Amino acid sequence: MRQDAHNPGDASAAPCAGLRIGDMAPDFSARSTMGDVRLSDYRGRWLVLFSHPADFTPVCTTEFVALARAAGDFAQRDCALMALSVDSLFSHFAWLRMIRDRFDVEVRFPILEDPTLVIGRGYGMVAPGDSDSGAVRSTFFIDPEGVIRAMTCYPANVGRSTPEMLRMLDALQAVDKETSLAPANWQPGEALLGQPQADLDNVFAAEGEADWFLGKAGAGARR
Ligand code: BEZ
Repeated sequence: MRQDAHNPGDASAAPCAGLRIGDMAPDFSARSTMGDVRLSDYRGRWLVLFSHPADFTPVCTTEFVALARAAGDFAQRDCALMALSVDSLFSHFAWLRMIRDRFDVEVRFPILEDPTLVIGRGYGMVAPGDSDSGAVRSTFFIDPEGVIRAMTCYPANVGRSTPEMLRMLDALQAVDKETSLAPANWQPGEALLGQPQADLDNVFAAEGEADWFLGKAGAGARR
């Protein structure tokens, strides 16, 4: 597990502070509701790894119901889901049984137990000085090469948006495919932006004053 190189020993460091976009996702293995899992076994497909503060809590329950219902949408994008909290495996089992009985949906993606917080701390899901994992909802979008491509941190009292998680995946996959950029509020099917051609000849040759850096993917010299 990689050390927090940016804020060593800083107990007030923000969760997600230890890892950065572009880092390799640190490998680990753990017990889960779907058996033993190892992160590196997921190479070759996308993975959304996320922490939740605690089992049997209201917002977390709504998130798991929403994600279980959207599991097919993630699978369509060749993306696995993996959850993690400090709760025990038996707590996870009891919670998933309650979710199935109450909401008529089965959570079939693995939920890891992390009783010692070794994974949570390594991923910055909990601040170094915190004694429990109940602080944040961290989400890591990991690409098929095992590289962290995006991360989000939500507070305990606000649930994540499943459509936004899917949109993030769509955007990451689209920009990879076209070596392009996804603009604000981009949705699948909409135009992507081209990479700026930031050399002076292109700047002076461009027709409009912004055309050298702000244009659609595939348009002229801007790709
Ligand atoms: C919740 O999921 O509802 C929750 C979890 C931890 C603290 C507060 C709320």
